[in-house]
Amino acid sequence: MRITDAKILAALPELGTDRLEAASLSDYTSLGIGGTTDLLLIKRHAAIPELVRMLDAAGYPFKFLGGGSNVLIRDGELPWVMLHLVKPEPEVRLDGNFAYVDAAADLGRTVTFCAKNNLGGMEGLIGVPGTIGGALRMNAGAYGIQIGTYVREVELYRAASRSLVTLKGDEIHFEYRHTSFALDDIMLAVKLELPSKPFKEILDGIRICNEKRRSSQPLNQKSAGCIFKNPPGASAGRMLDELGLKGLNVGDARVSDRHANFFVNAGNATAAQMLSLIDTVRERVRQSYGITLEEEVVIWK
Ligand code: EPU
Repeated sequence: MRITDAKILAALPELGTDRLEAASLSDYTSLGIGGTTDLLLIKRHAAIPELVRMLDAAGYPFKFLGGGSNVLIRDGELPWVMLHLVKPEPEVRLDGNFAYVDAAADLGRTVTFCAKNNLGGMEGLIGVPGTIGGALRMNAGAYGIQIGTYVREVELYRAASRSLVTLKGDEIHFEYRHTSFALDDIMLAVKLELPSKPFKEILDGIRICNEKRRSSQPLNQKSAGCIFKNPPGASAGRMLDELGLKGLNVGDARVSDRHANFFVNAGNATAAQMLSLIDTVRERVRQSYGITLEEEVVIWK
């Protein structure tokens, strides 16, 4: 979708927002899949309410894209404008055991920066791609750790009230890959409280998690991590593996040979091919196990 409204185009510089015309979102997603639309790069959080008000008034639907590492975006010309936060300098500020992190900060870099300052707890999240904002929204987790445990405060743009809001940690529910944030809330910044630990000890934990991940996940291929959530008490990856689905493909969309719950873009996969593969696999699991797997990846059709 192209922004042609003259009032919005003229206001963008004042709103600290740059426009990338007809950006291909395949360049902004870890799957390397996604259609084309105008991308608004926001440099000032405070400008969001006014920007959204103008988009609403002119009738432009919009969505918000974080790190693009857990999303499958449809092909072709997209019927919405994309908003995206630009990383500020610095991304993280420390005060004792508290880390104040911008939502656009890279999750892995944040974990490493905190570690170097003897703040641990998030070792398991080291290889999870994406931004702090994305991790917050999904309550990203790995190796027994989930980010929600450390959240003390979140600043967000709340679409429902059209305003910037600060929530205390105990006002937010964090569950397995799910939070109480509204779908259209935009994460802006977070205050984490992290346990003190010597850097060397944190580094040992990071190395172990990195090693486990390297040996079990296709890290050098384009993917969005796990496609399906694990159903209670079971592993989606193991079920798909048991059904012999590794290597199954629709065009260049392929079930990874390394971890069956990772679907990779082995070349020029389209969203349509990936969606078809997801449906095929879900149906196979339903027939064999009587379980309907839920997607872990966010799908924008
Ligand atoms: N397994 C197989 N074959 C496979 C994949 C897994 O037999 O192809 C078996 C493993 O051997 C293991 C069990 O299934 O016994 C569980 O596998 P794994 O330890 O890889 O964990 P997972 O449940 O598949 C979850 C998260 C991952 C996270 C890892 C490590 C979900 C959906 N996935 O995977 O998160 O990295 O644990 O903690 O919760 C993601 O969210 O995108 C993601 C990759």
